[in-house]
Amino acid sequence: MSHDQNEFIATVVERSNLGDYTQAREQFSWEEVKKHFTWYETGKVNMAYEAIDRHVDEGNGARTALLYSDAVREEAYSFLDLSEGSNRFGNVLRKYGISKGDRVFIFMPRSPELYLSLLGTLKVGAIVGPLFEAFMETAVKDRLLDSEAVALITVPQLLPRINRDELPQLKHIFVVGGGAQEQEGFIDYDAEMAAASDELELEWLSLEDGMILHYTSGSTGKPKGVYHVHNAMIQHYYTGKVVLDLREDDIYWCTADPGWVTGTSYGIFAPWLNGVTNVIRGGRFSPQDWYQTIVSNKVTVWYSAPTAFRMLMSAGDEVIKQFDLSTLRHVLSVGEPLNPEVVRWGTKAYNQRIHDTWWMTETGAQLICNYPGMVIKPGSMGKPLPGIEAAIINDQGEELPPYSMGNLAIKTPWPSMMRQVWNNQPKYDEYFRIPGWYVSGDSAYMDEDGYFWFQGRIDDVINSSGERIGPFEVESKLVEHPAVAEAGVIGKPDLVRGEIIKAFVSLREGYEPTQELKDDIYRFVKEGLSAHAAPREIEFKDKLPKTRSGKIMRRVLKAWELDLPAGDLSTIED
Ligand code: PRX
Repeated sequence: MSHDQNEFIATVVERSNLGDYTQAREQFSWEEVKKHFTWYETGKVNMAYEAIDRHVDEGNGARTALLYSDAVREEAYSFLDLSEGSNRFGNVLRKYGISKGDRVFIFMPRSPELYLSLLGTLKVGAIVGPLFEAFMETAVKDRLLDSEAVALITVPQLLPRINRDELPQLKHIFVVGGGAQEQEGFIDYDAEMAAASDELELEWLSLEDGMILHYTSGSTGKPKGVYHVHNAMIQHYYTGKVVLDLREDDIYWCTADPGWVTGTSYGIFAPWLNGVTNVIRGGRFSPQDWYQTIVSNKVTVWYSAPTAFRMLMSAGDEVIKQFDLSTLRHVLSVGEPLNPEVVRWGTKAYNQRIHDTWWMTETGAQLICNYPGMVIKPGSMGKPLPGIEAAIINDQGEELPPYSMGNLAIKTPWPSMMRQVWNNQPKYDEYFRIPGWYVSGDSAYMDEDGYFWFQGRIDDVINSSGERIGPFEVESKLVEHPAVAEAGVIGKPDLVRGEIIKAFVSLREGYEPTQELKDDIYRFVKEGLSAHAAPREIEFKDKLPKTRSGKIMRRVLKAWELDLPAGDLSTIED
């Protein structure tokens, strides 16, 4: 890193009061951030190059890039290892004719192969689509169809969830971890990797060329493909530096799965663009396992989510005493409101203030944050990054004064802003309906010091354990159950999960509202969509509240549930 670059970062990072923050905002320029990248001079870009190969070219190939572990594996990879391994996979993809702009999806549990596949896909200029391993058949099919993916990388145990007959454009399925050769039409990933060269001509791209497609939920319609381009790396790198506060010797652990945007932007891109060691832990959550992961890897910077912190808090402080967590230097959170109580507990339990960060799949990277050194007001998401302008606006686009609740909006553009909703321009345009602004769908207010306070969603999107769930997708699955006539789904407040999914269901003629039926409906959604989308609570109703045009009024369901006034009912059917 050049001297200038160091100075620039120093001015941005060192701010422990409002005066410095204001100064940092004034001095900030994205142009300065861009100077960090090799493409600043060449004009040729590839995320996998900047994140991995570059470190090899700069003489840091031997540095540890990945510390992977799960219940059975424990492996370390240097930047050189990842560079060569992803070259191999790039060659495999090329052999099967995959090239720039093709959509290549990855559907498997965390493993080193997942990361190699993702990097290899980027190296040939294809657009990567990560799918969370818990998705079931319908969820997988919807996403592969919408994106017209031509290739999929998966593992034997997930193959039953892929219905090839319904996916005509999906030409190639690579199977990691054996068994593929026995089944017609599948490609054996391991055999191909062993035979491939570890040298590759990278596909050089422009900054606006496609990089990643993350499917996420809105309140209406099927999940939408949020499309990000290589330009996003400018913000991944910058936020990795100033928000994650990554320094050369850090050992960093982001607990998110790459099926969600946090697991790519901050589980892959930000740490490796900053050249630090990235810890990946496979398997399920348990307090002991997570604390052991911190101890074994000597984790210094830890990025997780409120649900996880709440579960760790409820596991009690006795557990913590069994582990030496003193390597931790910086702890962050994202995905849902971070309760002030959790912040206070973290200060005692870990001797760390948990730094809340706010952003979304669509924003590609962090926008409103608590930075190192900043005064934290527990319960606030923090303040906009230098380079980002946020405001609370009304529906006419007027900025509201402090303490007024309204739409949380961001001035357009910023480097990692989504560039498309895949095949759905009208959806994309909805976010930008007020000229000059991106309207997030969250409601919030700002205080007199410029801190932002999250209030809720403006639409019906549900946030359960930090996972964003569209009620429409769940309702569509529910009505496929033979007993269900109609269904309406809402988020019900829950102490640990933030919200759980509650379904109101009316039954078809001839079905009895029994507990067995509830269990069966729950299982049906779980097995068709995913466990996190399944309604943990089901309530049978003779009739659901609907508008005259037949739309189920989730607002009324929510009012029933929370014992609130139902508001304007003038459009209700009867
Ligand atoms: O409602 C906000 C909530 O999560 C939504 C974005 O979800 P997703 O696209 O899945 O991205 C999650 C991780 C980037 C937001 O619209 N959300 C995210 N972070 C916070 C939050 N709510 C409150 N506080 C946060 N820090």
